[in-house]
Amino acid sequence: MTSLAARADELRAQIEEANYRYYALDDPQITDAEFDVLLRDLIELERKHPELQTPDSPTQRVGAAASQRFAPYEHARPMLSLANAVSVDELRAFDERARKLAGAGVEYVCELKIDGLALALDYRDGSLTRGGTRGDGRAGEDVTANLRTIKTIPLRLRATPFILRQAQDDKTGLGMAEAPTFLEVRGEVYLRKSDFERLNVEREREGLPAFANPRNAASGGVRQLDPALTAKRRLSFFAYQLAVDQGDRSAPKTQWDALARLRSLGFPVNPHVHRAATLDEVIEYCMNSEKKRDSFDYEIDGVVVKVNDFAQQERLGVVARDPRWAIAFKFRPREGRTKLVDIAITVGRTGTLNPSAVLTPVQIGGVTVKSATLHNVDYIENNDIRIGDTVLVTRAGDVIPRVVGPVLSERTGCERKFKMPQRCPVCGSDVDHPPDEAMSRCTNAACPAQAYERLRHFASRGAMDIEGIGDVMAQQLTELNLVRDIADTYKLNESALADVPRMGKKSVENLLRNIEASKQRGPARLLYGLGIRFVGTQTAQILVDDFGTIDAIAGADEQTLQRSEGIGPEVARSVALFFKQEPNREMIERLREAGVVMSAPKRVKTGGALSGKSFVLTGTLPNLTREAAAELIVAAGGKVTGSVSKKTDYVVAGSEPGSKLIKAEQLGINILDESGLQALLE
Ligand code: IVH
Repeated sequence: MTSLAARADELRAQIEEANYRYYALDDPQITDAEFDVLLRDLIELERKHPELQTPDSPTQRVGAAASQRFAPYEHARPMLSLANAVSVDELRAFDERARKLAGAGVEYVCELKIDGLALALDYRDGSLTRGGTRGDGRAGEDVTANLRTIKTIPLRLRATPFILRQAQDDKTGLGMAEAPTFLEVRGEVYLRKSDFERLNVEREREGLPAFANPRNAASGGVRQLDPALTAKRRLSFFAYQLAVDQGDRSAPKTQWDALARLRSLGFPVNPHVHRAATLDEVIEYCMNSEKKRDSFDYEIDGVVVKVNDFAQQERLGVVARDPRWAIAFKFRPREGRTKLVDIAITVGRTGTLNPSAVLTPVQIGGVTVKSATLHNVDYIENNDIRIGDTVLVTRAGDVIPRVVGPVLSERTGCERKFKMPQRCPVCGSDVDHPPDEAMSRCTNAACPAQAYERLRHFASRGAMDIEGIGDVMAQQLTELNLVRDIADTYKLNESALADVPRMGKKSVENLLRNIEASKQRGPARLLYGLGIRFVGTQTAQILVDDFGTIDAIAGADEQTLQRSEGIGPEVARSVALFFKQEPNREMIERLREAGVVMSAPKRVKTGGALSGKSFVLTGTLPNLTREAAAELIVAAGGKVTGSVSKKTDYVVAGSEPGSKLIKAEQLGINILDESGLQALLE
């Protein structure tokens, strides 16, 4: 075998492998840009030496073969892909050829290249009958049931003014075309960036690995075996091609008109389309779109430039696998590969331990990237990322660069698995990783990394309610180091506050008065204000009702805590772990010394209107916050608990109630709305 033949073989093997990993496993190990280079090399080699071309060469097909999971969807007309232009020179070459072959007066339509999955949709007599993926361009997968769940894909075409006009203009008496008898529409299914973020948050919560990018999530979503799972991904769709339009005698003759027709038939068409009379205009559109790339709520990876006139398109035709009437101008890639040198931990404002990748600096899309997020331990484990790995890194949208995964073929065996530290790297306290949570957290309320967030929570309405300590003040107090932990709030005085910019004498006085007043809020609000994980207002109230003092709660072990109604093992564990930390105990002492009330006053009303009654709150009430409602109930002698049981007397339900309402209905418990509660209180 000649060395050229060997090279062609090698390229083919690499491309096949990449295709398999990308399409079948959804687990790419080389970047799109690297793939493009391989394919270009092979195309070039086969063009120069046609004798090297084999019938099964990846250059002979478009995309990957469809999987066996779905029935085949044969395309009536092949679904083509596009040749790429990666430079202005290549755009120029495309333009020159188009003008030479199509004749004078070539006009272009520029569209954003949506980074999703190409689809073909069939409509018969106005109804969606079938839809499929591109597959290898000849046959894809029939995913009709899944596509029906995508809200932006019309199930019926709109009876549009366009069609009505046509019907009225129809003087031939040959019948009125209400809807085209057969229509094939092509477009891109994609996932909005906002929906992608939401989906990954949900997956994280469910302990599932996060998706690498919106495109992978969209492509997996379309190819679910259960349409309900497709629906859950909230996919979107843009139509960009009217492939067949039968039964319409005034079918559009240009791409521009086809887009208008698609729009009027009810399809979502991307609004950022531009008709360009000159190549300069095309280039300007490409440059502008690349600049604006992050401002769209969907990923785009380039611009598609199409000859507008269909007759000219016809004349230009198709060579090999690409039409000569269109080209994809590709933006600079925003993926790269580099070495993961180490994994560093930073402590977030809420105490989360955030792993971040320390990378050998790499250029990605014009920016030097030397660190990237790794989300959490589960992400690292699920994606089998090890220190020393060569990794794929993306810089998608405005978010921080992210490590996608390791390049397994580059493993040497010297890589190290990562272990989350057991102690907070900032303050040395215990780290907690609740079994069904993604994040590990520092349990020390006095941890310097958390000062701001903790103070803000401590001063908030439902906690110690210190008017004057909002977002901005909390930030100033912590940044100036006046408040290192919440107990420091009570050390503030006039001279300390003199350091805070833009604080007049009057505001200082007010703030100090409010701080003083907060000492009397009582142990339940204090307990909530400590910001212990899983301890909301209701849980805090229950614990204080049962134990009476902060000290008693701090002294209780997990079993004892669990005896309280609605306190499960998770909450008990978190409370006990909090009070086990020496810095936390010491902070409580300082709060006590400052005069903060730590034990419950005698129940205000023993014979109150709600005396002895047990309440559960769920959902959002129209006027009262949950804390306010709980306070009213307690003040009237009632008790608020966290979960519904046979012992519950009333469930107060607002909008979007949770499972508590269902349970209450099952148990036949009285259900009140806010006005029902007010009536009881009166
Ligand atoms: S036109 C022959 N228009 O990019 C024309 N494609 O490599 C084929 N794409 O397979 C497609 N946005 O998945 C066209 N506005 C757009 C597009 C678009 C995204 C995708 C599509 C296609 C690939 C081309």
